[in-house]
Amino acid sequence: MTMDPILKEIKALREQINHHNYLYYILNQPSISDAEYDRFFKQLVELEKKYPEFLAPDSPTQRVGAPLESLGKTVLHDLPMLSLDNAFSEEEALEFDKRVRKVIQREEIEYVVEPKYDGVSSSLVYENGLFTRGSTRGDGFRGEDITGNLRTIQTIPLRLRKMPGLEGSDAPFPRHIEIRGEVLIPKEVFKEINRIQAENGLPIFANPRNSASGSLRQLDPAITARRNLHFYAWGTGKVEGARFHSQIGLLNQLKEWGFRVSPEMTLCPSIEAAVQKHHQIETGRKEMTFDIDGVVIKVNKIDDQQKLGETARHPRWGLAYKFKPMQMTTRILKIEVQVGRTGILTPVAILEPVEIGGVTVSRATLHTEGEMLEKNVLVGDTVFVERAGDVIPEVIKPVVEKRTGQETPFHMPLECPVCHAAVEKEGAYLFCINLSCPAQIQGKIVHLCSRKGFDIAGLGKKKVDQLYENGLLKNLSDIFYLKSKKDELVRLPGWEEKSTQNLIEQIEKSKRISFSRFLYSLSIRGIGSSVGKILSQHFGSLDRLENGAQEELTGIFGIGPELANNIVHFFYEERNRETIARILKAGVQIEYEAVPVKGIWAGKKVVITGTFKSHSREELTEKIEKEGGEVTSSVSSKTHFILAGENPGSKLDKARALEVRVLSEEEFLEMVKE
Ligand code: IVH
Repeated sequence: MTMDPILKEIKALREQINHHNYLYYILNQPSISDAEYDRFFKQLVELEKKYPEFLAPDSPTQRVGAPLESLGKTVLHDLPMLSLDNAFSEEEALEFDKRVRKVIQREEIEYVVEPKYDGVSSSLVYENGLFTRGSTRGDGFRGEDITGNLRTIQTIPLRLRKMPGLEGSDAPFPRHIEIRGEVLIPKEVFKEINRIQAENGLPIFANPRNSASGSLRQLDPAITARRNLHFYAWGTGKVEGARFHSQIGLLNQLKEWGFRVSPEMTLCPSIEAAVQKHHQIETGRKEMTFDIDGVVIKVNKIDDQQKLGETARHPRWGLAYKFKPMQMTTRILKIEVQVGRTGILTPVAILEPVEIGGVTVSRATLHTEGEMLEKNVLVGDTVFVERAGDVIPEVIKPVVEKRTGQETPFHMPLECPVCHAAVEKEGAYLFCINLSCPAQIQGKIVHLCSRKGFDIAGLGKKKVDQLYENGLLKNLSDIFYLKSKKDELVRLPGWEEKSTQNLIEQIEKSKRISFSRFLYSLSIRGIGSSVGKILSQHFGSLDRLENGAQEELTGIFGIGPELANNIVHFFYEERNRETIARILKAGVQIEYEAVPVKGIWAGKKVVITGTFKSHSREELTEKIEKEGGEVTSSVSSKTHFILAGENPGSKLDKARALEVRVLSEEEFLEMVKE
């Protein structure tokens, strides 16, 4: 009997869509544009609506089902989901290898190293290739049935991809297979969810794992679907109708079936190589789209794994080798108040020094008075301190159980701790109102000299402080008059003739500066480099900006009322006008960028990633900027497009997680041509 032509069309569309999902989500190599994909999808939705008799549970249109009445239905795992033994040092990893070799009786053992994902461990059952049941790990024996929510995750195939010639079987899929892995939420999405939670007055999640778990335990799968969760597979449970010979072979097969496995997974010939891989992954940890807290080292050969067996709690063939923790506890010795370049007063905890992730931390920010009060942090408290990548360490919360009664509250001062001028409250922040406050001036000078400003590398914080203390830099504009003070400079300790001359030349060279960088350098509250660019493009000249009305500013895309107010205020202040005039008098020339009247990229933020066949990155950047667009380096929820070339890396993952429109090189060129 021949197949109904409509059903044939529907099946072909489903196959197309599944194939493109695989290229997009698993291989990271989309071959069609989002618009084309949407067209296929719509076509399928319409056909299925017209011919409901052909609807199927594994259709890509059937990911989001009806809400549940309640959660709490539990399922018994066919095989218990054990946990892994932990190691925190190289010695412990070598000990593990020793134990393995003793049982296996071989000199060198092959290991697979995978990231240890910090997410929600889940189990997916496939019967003859069809996803039939999904659950959480629970207590290892019994988990919660969350099939409906797991179905919404794009990186969980509703049907395994067909693969000819599966090892040890004639059928394309095993009769029954339970796939295990971790549900994760990208770090960026986590931040965004918390922003929205806070905006709506809802409690925020403590970490990505909690927010992934919360997202999976929703009654309405439509909410889960919006959370952009991902599933990374790391192993199997009960399998019938297939056999695997190695962990690496298993992971590769899982990828073929349509699952994401980490690109970091590596087959290592020895424990030494595995340890090295651990260090390498730890170094690159902050670049990863997801949180990981270590690596898992697994004996590669399945026969060896079986020989090793397991204890009641964990397998003897695997080890979780953790990274250095990024959160530690220590004591607050005292709280100091720091004054920033824009006058903001920040409470800073001075800590008993503690090593966090390989760095000794002795100061951590408390952000604002409000946060300090909300977290209920007292001087003398033992507190959790977290260091996340490059950001300033912060105090998370006190360990209340460790209080002795000797702890004391801290109150923000009523006057600036540096210049003793009055302090004013604006929103959540306290400000020193004195524009001549030494802390503000020194901070502003350092900022003006920074890379994104005038880029005077020879004037870092130490040198600026020294010149300020010696009365050679009293104002931002003094930098550009240092040339006439060379004799005084070379008399200072550490200022040799040659390096001083170099600095003077650097300053002279820096005097030609783009308008956006010039604006950035002035330390106007809220103006970073991207706002600097927006303002320079809109106003085109300093004169126009200085006289710009608040209404005009507020009307610009990307400038809110508070920022507009700061700008107007800044130029209203006589001494700011004087400083600018003195800078210009010293010979600083602002180069005005041509203002695009109406470019095709006007007002759009674009991120470029990967390598391109037709143009260099600089050329692409130029094309976008010429047409009014802005090229930024990191992807955020404000990014409009990501232009992805070959080997795009983690920025593309982040963009996808945030649902940023992805443009291929070809699509981009097509748009530019138009
Ligand atoms: S293999 C018998 N591989 O860590 C358990 N687990 O402490 C074998 N995990 O419950 C687990 N990433 O949720 C394995 N690449 C990975 C993992 C991983 C994260 C979690 C998993 C497990 C826990 C074990």
